Amino acid sequence: MEKVKILLDESDIPRQWYNLAADLPTPLLPPLGPDGNPVSPDMLAPVFPMNLIEQEVSAERWIDIPEEILNILYRWRPAPLRRAVYLEQHLDTPARIYFKDESMSPPGSHKPNTAVAQAWYNKQFGIEKLTTETGAGQWGSALAFACQLIGLECKVFMVRISFDQKPFRKVMMQVWGANCIASPSSETNAGRKVLEEMPDTPGSLGIAISEAIEAAVTDPTGKTRYSLGSVLNHVLLHQTIIGLEAKKQLKKIGEKPDIIIGCAGGGSNFAGLSFPFVADKINGADITIIPVEPTACPTMTRAPFVYDFGDTACTTPLLAMHSLGHAFVPPPIHAGGLRYHGMAPLVCQAIVEGLLEPRSYHQLESYNAAITWARTEGFIAAPETSQALAAVIDEAKKAKEEGKEKVILFNYSGHGLMDLSGYDAFLSGKLVDYELPDKELQKYLKDLENLPKAEMRKSGKW
Ligand SMILES: Cc1ncc(COP(=O)(O)O)c(C=O)c1O
Repeated sequence: MEKVKILLDESDIPRQWYNLAADLPTPLLPPLGPDGNPVSPDMLAPVFPMNLIEQEVSAERWIDIPEEILNILYRWRPAPLRRAVYLEQHLDTPARIYFKDESMSPPGSHKPNTAVAQAWYNKQFGIEKLTTETGAGQWGSALAFACQLIGLECKVFMVRISFDQKPFRKVMMQVWGANCIASPSSETNAGRKVLEEMPDTPGSLGIAISEAIEAAVTDPTGKTRYSLGSVLNHVLLHQTIIGLEAKKQLKKIGEKPDIIIGCAGGGSNFAGLSFPFVADKINGADITIIPVEPTACPTMTRAPFVYDFGDTACTTPLLAMHSLGHAFVPPPIHAGGLRYHGMAPLVCQAIVEGLLEPRSYHQLESYNAAITWARTEGFIAAPETSQALAAVIDEAKKAKEEGKEKVILFNYSGHGLMDLSGYDAFLSGKLVDYELPDKELQKYLKDLENLPKAEMRKSGKW
């Protein structure tokens, strides 16, 4: 019998996060303010606490994880590395497929790795309340969970379509003491403006971010800050504990990955697993690293590398990233956590460098992969995770065709037990594929014409 679980002891947990910004051959372009000049840390102070802003701009390779944060993470970390032997047998592939199981956290995804860290740093800074947005509800429930454990109030603006599709996520947030409302809402100027123009909108992460930032910066107590579940450097940093653990686990059994796969919404799940291995690739390792996204929201595979706002109301600094345009309203696919118009600047700079090979999948192929997965491995994957599964199955089949013993590692970012309405729609034949028409994309990109241009800098090594 092959070993199907590779476990680490609590004493083996990584004690530092890894910061890819220290090793990228070409540095990140700086975020820009409304005047086109780089933003200073002080300008971010109304939105984030200074201890997180310091992490955001840090160029240190390793950053210590405070003991109090580790004490909370031990509830589910180190997370198991599992081998998908039953899927391997089903596909009759010579590939060995490993996955890091992030579905074991209490809220059910990778998101609490940063939620706990962000809540802890905010509390240290004297903050009493956090606001945030959530797409699928995974991030909102992760922050609600973290705020409850750390003793902060939490308010979540949940994208309308997910609020309606996933009512139990809202209940989870309430169980952990958070206040969750549908976005766009009538509680903020940003929300009211969108509702006036598009009363039936399904909402978007861009709109919900605008609402959550506005709610934080207009709070008269000055003790509220905003928390983002992906995209930013410090969020990706906190997730690298996933890849650092996976490295130790693979080392324990003498394996090295040939292919690394993760689904990417804002990029933190993918980055969390892959960045410690991107460092190896920068130092000469031969690894294919694949971020996966939905064809309906093709940020990495079709959108240009530009300066764009992180939110719809244009309140955030301009970030250098692949973007479908800040006004992009994605179609209502079930992978709600993969419907963001932009992508983490660190992931995008690694794409520009040629270190990553992004790929997109339709939702029907992803659900088919998730069904194969559930009927072999037994686990029911989140719709977001199923996008990664589609790529894993493709790569395992390719290994079979080529007769190669590839080692595939992917991030099992969350379970789908709160997403059964999507499975219901799929099994009853109600789901359809959607490919963003080029005309539609060009319409959204028009809004970026007058923004500063992002220079594509690359070393030419990959
Ligand atoms: C289960 C799951 N996987 C992946 C993602 C994508 O996360 P990220 O924004 O970190 O790329 C999400 C986002 O909500 C999610 O819920």
